[in-house]
Amino acid sequence: MRHRNGWTLFSLLALVALILAACGAQPPSGAQPTQPAAAPTAGGKLEMFSWWTAGGEADGLNAMYDLYKQANPGVEVINATVAGGAGTNAKAVLSTRLTGGDPPDSFQLHAGLEVEKYEPQKYLQPLDDLYAAEGLETVFPRDLLTLLKYQDHYWGVPVNIHRANVMWYNKQIFADNNLTPPTTWEEFYAVGDALKARGIVPLVIGTKEGWEAGHTFETILISTLGADGYRGLWTGQTRWTDPKVTQALETFKKVMTYANTDYAALTWSDAAQYLVDGKGAMHIMGDWTDGWFTSKGYTGYGWAPVPGTRGVFDALSDSFAAAKGAPDQANLMAWLKLAASKEGQEAFNPKKGSICARTDCDPALFNPYLQSAMKDWSTDAIVPSVAHGAAAVEKWATVYKDILNTFATTGDVAAAQQALQQACVDNGVCK
Ligand code: GAL
Repeated sequence: MRHRNGWTLFSLLALVALILAACGAQPPSGAQPTQPAAAPTAGGKLEMFSWWTAGGEADGLNAMYDLYKQANPGVEVINATVAGGAGTNAKAVLSTRLTGGDPPDSFQLHAGLEVEKYEPQKYLQPLDDLYAAEGLETVFPRDLLTLLKYQDHYWGVPVNIHRANVMWYNKQIFADNNLTPPTTWEEFYAVGDALKARGIVPLVIGTKEGWEAGHTFETILISTLGADGYRGLWTGQTRWTDPKVTQALETFKKVMTYANTDYAALTWSDAAQYLVDGKGAMHIMGDWTDGWFTSKGYTGYGWAPVPGTRGVFDALSDSFAAAKGAPDQANLMAWLKLAASKEGQEAFNPKKGSICARTDCDPALFNPYLQSAMKDWSTDAIVPSVAHGAAAVEKWATVYKDILNTFATTGDVAAAQQALQQACVDNGVCK
């Protein structure tokens, strides 16, 4: 099933969110209307919280800060970051700050069910009035808007769209060994065997932060289940006991036999560095890697969909949320308006390694990889990433990531599948 520029599956997920809410996860309403967006004050601060510290992502954020400072010269911008890919460390710190009454003004939040973790009715400002005042419902894709709506309110302004199912490769290694990037897992094993025979590590991976194995595995699930089957895992329509989930675990286990042995000591960007250094041939990671490569001045990389996932775009979106009780309301609203604007998104995304959430950015500002992502986004079947907040509530996503992180080392297929099924049951989606 293909969706032209549509996030139809995300609509389904929004429905799941509504069901969860109706089941009592949150009180059904009670949010206060947003204050009308105020004009920026001449002074004060803007504290923006994220986990963007690596090359590319930090550069994108800085490009937006520069624009913000030009427009609001009297405002002190505080760049609050907690390093750790996928928000591994940042999310816990943020929760503590919100519940402890010490919120930053704005913070990074994945579009989708991740918002449930932060008890939005209690700790976040609904942004419906900002959306109305700025006409934001006309500039973002409809199904992204649906994904952003939780308990009938918008809680974040989306700045980008990332793709998770990308296989990056070192072009020189492939050319030198007369190989072509694999499009199926069988081809991957053949390429991997050829590389191994020549003493080259076929796949570089880092699992140090605990989320990367889950990231890799969701792309393998897509390859064995297809777009609809994968979506169904998060809505109860596909069973975690399905033989195709077993097949995905077996595949991941075999894929790990082609990986660097020091994977548990490396982060995603350490692993990407191995590719840059010619110490490995392929790397499965989201397209923030494109921003990271660009920040390193590295141009020797090629890209392809993860084997078996051509025609599917495993998607996530970063948004910026507004904390309730944010100290500097006017400065905060000016920030969110910038994040939503064409100018802000065109400054941010080419550096970040993502495409705009808006539909009107100029493709000429983006490199060939990102232009290919824009094209795929408009034609591929779109599925939601679980490792990056779109597909499931945070407590489910966390258990999922933990199971896969353990599995990367133990390779116990039956135990992992049983635990994945149990996690679905525990979250009320499977019986
Ligand atoms: C994702 C996030 C991306 C990027 C990546 C690596 O969760 O959405 O923007 O930061 O983690 O940290």
